[in-house]
Amino acid sequence: MTKAQIWTAAFLGLFVILFFLQKLTSEKPEIPGGMPMAQEEQYPAGKSETAGADLTTNFGCNTCHGTDMKGTKIAPTLVGLKQYYDRDKLINYLRNPQSYMDNDRFVAFKKQYKNIVMPSFNNKDVKDLGKIADYLLKLE
Ligand code: HEC
Repeated sequence: MTKAQIWTAAFLGLFVILFFLQKLTSEKPEIPGGMPMAQEEQYPAGKSETAGADLTTNFGCNTCHGTDMKGTKIAPTLVGLKQYYDRDKLINYLRNPQSYMDNDRFVAFKKQYKNIVMPSFNNKDVKDLGKIADYLLKLE
């Protein structure tokens, strides 16, 4: 080997070593499970109402039903729903509010909130609607 060849070999060797060093140091820390946090994990068990409260903001319920669901000029209060609904019935209502229109309370709502219709949320995940139901049924 000539001197030039030795130098070239030395440089190549150095690059190879640097390359592997860089690989080693830039290794990303392992995320346990390797999956982004599921929504359930963000809300510890039993905290379904907290999740429900957040969802009512996300879904825009409070733009009509007001802060803390206490009602506004354009939509009734959602405090005290427990006397009219259980969890399943409330989920069903949210998915298809128009099918509940024959009852006296809703006849009165129709008059009071003439130009506003409760939108149906049947395009939403039933699990999310369940969390909203848990939240609403706790409001007294
Ligand atoms: C565009 C305004 C509007 C939005 C947004 C809205 N609502 Fe309503 N909601 C109403 C109106 C108005 C009524 C009264 C019934 C009717 O006129 O359709 C009502 C009725 C209800 C009722 C029945 C109350 C009772 O006493 O039986 C529930 C429950 C309800 N809304 C929950 C929700 C939830 C939960 C959301 C969000 C996921 C939501 N609403 C979003 C306007 C709205």
